[in-house]
Amino acid sequence: MTEQRTPPMTREYLMCPPQHFAVEYAINPWMDPAVEVDRELAGKQWELLRVTLTDLGHTVHVLPARAGLPDMVYAANGAFSVDGTVYGARFRHPQRRSEAAAHHRFYLDRGWTYIPASETNEGEGDFAYVPGVAGGVILAGYGFRTDPAAHAEAQEVLGRPVVSLRLVDPRFYHLDTALAVLDEHRIAYFPGAFSTAAQRVLAQLFPDAVLADDADALAFGLNLVSDGRHVVLNSAATGLAQRLAAAGYRPVAVELTELRKGGGSVKCCVAELRPAPPQT
Ligand code: ARG
Repeated sequence: MTEQRTPPMTREYLMCPPQHFAVEYAINPWMDPAVEVDRELAGKQWELLRVTLTDLGHTVHVLPARAGLPDMVYAANGAFSVDGTVYGARFRHPQRRSEAAAHHRFYLDRGWTYIPASETNEGEGDFAYVPGVAGGVILAGYGFRTDPAAHAEAQEVLGRPVVSLRLVDPRFYHLDTALAVLDEHRIAYFPGAFSTAAQRVLAQLFPDAVLADDADALAFGLNLVSDGRHVVLNSAATGLAQRLAAAGYRPVAVELTELRKGGGSVKCCVAELRPAPPQT
């Protein structure tokens, strides 16, 4: 069988501008309220990310920012959708809890099937979808934010097998800081962020994965958005960009120095919407 590279696909994304972005509390090891944030620069960098995605042909919806929610710019955490069904987020930290309602509203207004969560989970921060493996599998992280009980709940809501992966390094507190889906079948990840058992599971399921080293991971390189061909990633992750190019992808670098101060990069700012496939 000849290997086929997935053709670039038009994607639908949701982003929220950093209008009220600040580092006022520390809920991950990257955040230091003593470090100054340049909100204007954050806004320019965010806008460049948005335009990069639309220039690649993708649709980017914008969720209005709310005052008092300085982390709302990290839109990936607000929900997780597969084939038109949305599993809502339920944030671990009280500072972010009201963000879930804003995302809920967004999906309700557009007629998505939205199932609120009873279990603690941070949406695409800890859930990733690999459509081409076993008819579609969900990879799910736990250890810092999302409760393993939410993995079972996501499986019930979304009807896809969920593979639970234990995160062990607090610097990589969300799955999307250490693992990214590149195309239908392939992922990239940093093994050191996972328990030994989870590393074994990943190696078994994804023998052709692009492996990142700690320099890539610490540069937030894995916090990327891929459309199957173009891989939008943090400009500091030069080593990973080279590895991705060698694997046949097109890296597109963006600078996000300000949002990194909150412990996030490209993927954290971008939720992917997965509508139901058109009926044929
Ligand atoms: N300051 C945010 C938090 O700690 C950053 C979230 C990053 N988002 C992500 N998808 N990893 O919750």
